[in-house]
Amino acid sequence: MNPSPLLEKINTFRREWGERLLILGHHYQTSEVVACCDAVGDSLELSRLAAQSKAERIIFCGVRFMAETADILIRDANGNANGRSVWQPAPTAGCPMADMADGASLEAAWQTLQAIDPTTPLTPVVYVNSNAEVKAVCGKHGGSTCTSGNGHRVVKHFLNQGHRILFAPDQHLCTNIMRELGYPTSAVALWRRELPNGGLTAEQVLQARLIAWDGCCPIHASYTTGDIQVARLAHPDAELLIHPEAPSAVAALADHTGSTKGIIDTIQRADPDRTFIVGTEEHLVERLKRTAGKTIFSLRPILCTDMGLTTLEQILSVFETWDETCHVVVPHDLVADARISVERMLAL
Ligand code: 13P
Ligand code: SF4
Repeated sequence: MNPSPLLEKINTFRREWGERLLILGHHYQTSEVVACCDAVGDSLELSRLAAQSKAERIIFCGVRFMAETADILIRDANGNANGRSVWQPAPTAGCPMADMADGASLEAAWQTLQAIDPTTPLTPVVYVNSNAEVKAVCGKHGGSTCTSGNGHRVVKHFLNQGHRILFAPDQHLCTNIMRELGYPTSAVALWRRELPNGGLTAEQVLQARLIAWDGCCPIHASYTTGDIQVARLAHPDAELLIHPEAPSAVAALADHTGSTKGIIDTIQRADPDRTFIVGTEEHLVERLKRTAGKTIFSLRPILCTDMGLTTLEQILSVFETWDETCHVVVPHDLVADARISVERMLAL
């Protein structure tokens, strides 16, 4: 099939820019957007690609926190971009979960919790699905970001050193990680943002190895144990894969949890006669159904509206106008601390 006229125009610009330009896209982007990306990945891969890239400009097809992470990683140790820049074709594409935590509230929670047990280090672990100011608080207190692809490693790293963890913003990701690492449910205490002291007593804090911020991905959190029962009944021989942003009671009933890359890799490695039920964003599940060469069913189709905002028209418009509203610039005063937390993750 011939490429669309829009894609042809974008490709003309891409040829003109050559290696000075990199287009990155997340797995939840539409297939037509994916078709014009130089690389597609999960949050961890995209962070690594941004960190390694020498491109002058990165066009990021994804949501705000991803483009911000790329901007943090292209800066030098002094926070200067040295003529390099990150552009988000859909500048209003955010992440509702990232917006469930802000820097001042995380700082206040950290101060309250650390004061309860000053001799045990309280280390923030912040999901990359967070705003730059939250990453900066994390870096300032010796913490690390994590993704759904490396969360077990990051959490284990700090727990093994005897630290207590303050994990934000996704309560479900960290609860799934702790369950999969073999910790009892009593090892996790939930910090409720709206309540004084997060609604926790000093005893509950002292008992916990990890304090979970009460944020979530509204899309993945909508999965229920009923969805699993219905899918298992309909496809009894299928393996069930789910993203770890799903609630723990749901994810515990799956055969595997994994990042978007983890899900893709599991399906690609499997024999061609295998059948899968996949619980994550529908743009990716649809693409897997068409391209993976295996039989795939959606656990229940769920769509991330923000991820779906990027279009070919907007990508073309970035090339034509380089409109400043699409230019992603993390404030200079946040970059140094935010960079510490992201670089620690990449080093772990
Ligand atoms: P991945 O890192 O698994 O790609 O997930 C990102 C995300 O936003 C999932 O909702
Ligand atoms: Fe955020 Fe959920 Fe969309 Fe991922 S799927 S970008 S966590 S709202």
